Amino acid sequence: MILTLGHTKGGVGKSTLALNIAIERLLAGVDTLLIDGDPKQSSISKAIGIRGDAGLAPPVPCIALDDAKALRHQVGLLKTRYTDIVIDVGGKDSNALRAALTVTDTLLLPIGPESVEVWAIDDILELVDEARSLHDFRVLAVLNRAKPAGRDNADTVAAIEEYAGIKLVAGSLGNRAIFSSAFGRGQSVTEYRPCNRKAVTELASLMLAIYGD
Ligand SMILES: Nc1ncnc2c1ncn2[C@@H]1O[C@H](COP(=O)(O)OP(=O)(O)O)[C@@H](O)[C@H]1O
Ligand SMILES: [Mg+2]
Repeated sequence: MILTLGHTKGGVGKSTLALNIAIERLLAGVDTLLIDGDPKQSSISKAIGIRGDAGLAPPVPCIALDDAKALRHQVGLLKTRYTDIVIDVGGKDSNALRAALTVTDTLLLPIGPESVEVWAIDDILELVDEARSLHDFRVLAVLNRAKPAGRDNADTVAAIEEYAGIKLVAGSLGNRAIFSSAFGRGQSVTEYRPCNRKAVTELASLMLAIYGD
């Protein structure tokens, strides 16, 4: 499956989730390629570099491609080589994001429990509608950085559910420091020690919602 973590908005959790998802697939024994389609931010490539320097297993195959044409071309070539491809791509009017949407099977949108993140849905859906006129793909949303209390989570969930073209996955990912701590070491939250069981369980249910296995 080609999965794109993409959004016109930055800071929503695309890179964090792309790294976690790719590592989880590799840990499950699935031949997976990670594509850093946002190398100017360099966060995924940096995290993978740190992972490589530490010699952590499994190694994560990762290539950086922010040129739209190269991204489309390479995904076309590599999708037969890898069972799964995870693309991390962002930017307001990024050609790489548009290119990823032309090849992806699924787009996963991390959305935080804040008005600005809800308002940003219209922007990304403009690109989604454009891309869906060329080929159909699934659009999933996950509530990321869910708050421990208050009504913001429920309000955000209700707002996302208004969009017919988006399927909100059950469960959410809490606002947990382990996500940035693990990322800084090039690890998924499953690998990071000390273990945070809540984060591990949340990631597992996201994986189930995406891959169904
Ligand atoms: N579930 C989460 N809990 C806590 N912090 C998170 C979570 N998801 C992302 N973050 C943090 O939010 C910031 C933005 O995440 P990032 O993945 O870089 O976003 P993007 O790639 O969309 O710009 C980072 O500091 C990251 O550690
Ligand atoms: Mg990013």
